[in-house]
Amino acid sequence: MAETRILAIETSCDETSCAVVEDGRRIMSNVVASQVDLHARYGGVFPELASRAHIEAIVPVIERAMWEAHVGFEDLDAVAVTYGPGLAGSLLVGVNAAKGLALGRDLPLVAVNHLEAHVYAHWLESDSEGAATTPEVSIEDKVGFPMLALIVSGGHTELILMRDHGIYEYLGGTLDDAAGEAFDKVGRLLGLSYPGGPAIQRAAESGDPESFSFPRAWLEDSFDFSFSGLKTAVMRAVDGYPGGLRGNLQANMAASFQEAVVDVLSTKAARAAEEFGAQAIILCGGVSANRALRSRTVERSAVPVYYPPLSLCTDNAAMVGACAYRHFEAGDCASWGLDVIPGLRLA
Ligand code: KG4
Ligand code: ZN
Repeated sequence: MAETRILAIETSCDETSCAVVEDGRRIMSNVVASQVDLHARYGGVFPELASRAHIEAIVPVIERAMWEAHVGFEDLDAVAVTYGPGLAGSLLVGVNAAKGLALGRDLPLVAVNHLEAHVYAHWLESDSEGAATTPEVSIEDKVGFPMLALIVSGGHTELILMRDHGIYEYLGGTLDDAAGEAFDKVGRLLGLSYPGGPAIQRAAESGDPESFSFPRAWLEDSFDFSFSGLKTAVMRAVDGYPGGLRGNLQANMAASFQEAVVDVLSTKAARAAEEFGAQAIILCGGVSANRALRSRTVERSAVPVYYPPLSLCTDNAAMVGACAYRHFEAGDCASWGLDVIPGLRLA
């Protein structure tokens, strides 16, 4: 049987990415042009600059992805694109590029939800430690439904019960900042580089996670999260050192903050998996790159915990291609009237 090849485009935030994915599993190419340097001086994503940078990068990134995959348009079965959630101006660049390609090359267009794409990163082949899907075995063969997805990114923190392909139940989410956003904001408070997530993880390596007792918002028995109190507590602690964070202070604060976030995320994910009879926990989104989150969740969960390889945790188009494959196979294609939905939800 001939393979299904999908060209996928992702521009929801600050990465311009294009991938070619075969049968929703095999990555033929996955090109990611990051705008980190552009936004670093602002300590966060600057929306107008992001969309302008996408416009400049999109065509070369698509060309590169096709070249690396050694495919021509005649080898493709569909064009897929993220249409939300994300920044409106950024999403528009990807959606318009995808529409142009699909229309011009007479290919079907598949619309993908960015959060669902993060979930489908687990369907991509990988040999890395912690990954569920190897070249031989798919995550479904290994795990089965339901799965508990902890989606933790710069814009979202959600616990979702995935009962089957396309069947999602929202169990809880953040009431204020997303986990990644908290990492980025606290990184700035601690004088670390942008993005804060990887910088805090690095700084935390030489710190003592018990040196500061930062608060955890348990919010009783709910599966909701809140990180604003924790952020304020870090701000107060930093203010206590007007001379700056010298010596081990920065590392200790980074480690204590990281532990506070990871403690709540891993505990609630493990409890939700147990309560809803999940077969596994799948960590999804940029923050799932965090080593402490991975190891704490493994420690606390009674069921297996999977995480994508680092390059597939943060935004990339391969995960969009993996997700699009399901929709394409189900005949779920978009119309030419497809528009971006910045506030799109998964469930
Ligand atoms: O999924 P993603 O690339 O973009 C969104 O959809 O938002 O996630 C980006 C977020 C950023 O907030 C970044 O600081 C965080 O993921 N992140 C991390 C790590 N690597 C990236 N957070 C904690 N530890 C990491 N190692
Ligand atoms: Zn993302």
